Amino acid sequence: MRDLVLGIESSCDETAAAVVRAGREVLSSIVASQVDLHAPYGGVVPEIAGRSHLRAILPTVDRALAEAGVGLEDLAAIAVTARPGLIGSLLVGVGAAKGLAFARGLPLVAVDHIEAHAYAAVMEAGPDAYPNLTLVASGGHTALYEARSPIEITRIAQTRDDSAGEAFDKVAHLLGLPYPGGPSISRLAEQGDPAKVRFPRYRTRRGETDFSFSGLKTAVLYHLRGQDALAATPPPEAIQGRADVAASFQAAVVDALVAPTLELAQRRGLSIVAVVGGVASNRRLREAMAQGAAQRGIACLFPSPAYCTDNAAMIAGLGWPLFQAGRTSDWALDASAR
Ligand code: KG4
Ligand code: ZN
Repeated sequence: MRDLVLGIESSCDETAAAVVRAGREVLSSIVASQVDLHAPYGGVVPEIAGRSHLRAILPTVDRALAEAGVGLEDLAAIAVTARPGLIGSLLVGVGAAKGLAFARGLPLVAVDHIEAHAYAAVMEAGPDAYPNLTLVASGGHTALYEARSPIEITRIAQTRDDSAGEAFDKVAHLLGLPYPGGPSISRLAEQGDPAKVRFPRYRTRRGETDFSFSGLKTAVLYHLRGQDALAATPPPEAIQGRADVAASFQAAVVDALVAPTLELAQRRGLSIVAVVGGVASNRRLREAMAQGAAQRGIACLFPSPAYCTDNAAMIAGLGWPLFQAGRTSDWALDASAR
């Protein structure tokens, strides 16, 4: 039986392709990053992203097949991120997947990017990792999902405003650190004191779980400017204790993610928590979540860092159970930003 799935991912600023056997065994995972193209702007520029996906997509697919040592004729299906993301970027991946699938008469499987992030933890941990509570903390999303299986996943809480990754990116910009903000803040934070500045930890009313990060971002802004609303943000070289601000900000994000997640897992009687998405590669978050979970008798799963940030192995991986469940798409498949 054929059990190889080619995965294609182009929802944001990484062009990625991967070949995964039976949803678990990664034969290749290629990520062509556009970070250098977007860094001068301090964030992803959709027009630039779309155009560079177009240039990179077919060479990236070729590399993934070559590295796996397989051809299109060996595949069981082609899986592609169809939502959510930047529409101009998604369309490039969906167009390429449709073209290849049509040319080879292969089934086409549409994958939800968020559900694929959630699957990344299970791809490595194995099928016993259900039911679980999955925290997706990425640049585009911060939300909690109850997952019963790779394809039965329901959102139960989310951010009211910014995502955790966005907060890292915006605060990095304030601090004069390069994009993407997560890695650059966590690097600087290693030299700082996380208890130096007490930034707010947002909590909703009792019994409700939600995240919010816009207040934290504003608190960092006022910390840098002083209380004068009309004052300008100081240039990075003039910021005193930049490493302390980075460490204190990171500690606030970590607390704001860990406590609500573990409380909700306990309330719902879920004994497994998975933490996924770009922010899940943050070392402090991994440590704090693992420690808090252990104290509550909850098992904690994280994907390897390479499968936390955007990649196509998670797309090819989730493509397999979707394909097996008969969830294939016809040629009318369209990308959707939401
Ligand atoms: O999942 P991802 O690669 O793309 C989206 O689907 O959004 O997440 C990217 C986000 C960015 O905001 C980036 O700053 C953040 O993940 N990130 C991190 C770290 N590495 C990436 N945030 C905190 N600590 C990190 N080490
Ligand atoms: Zn992502």
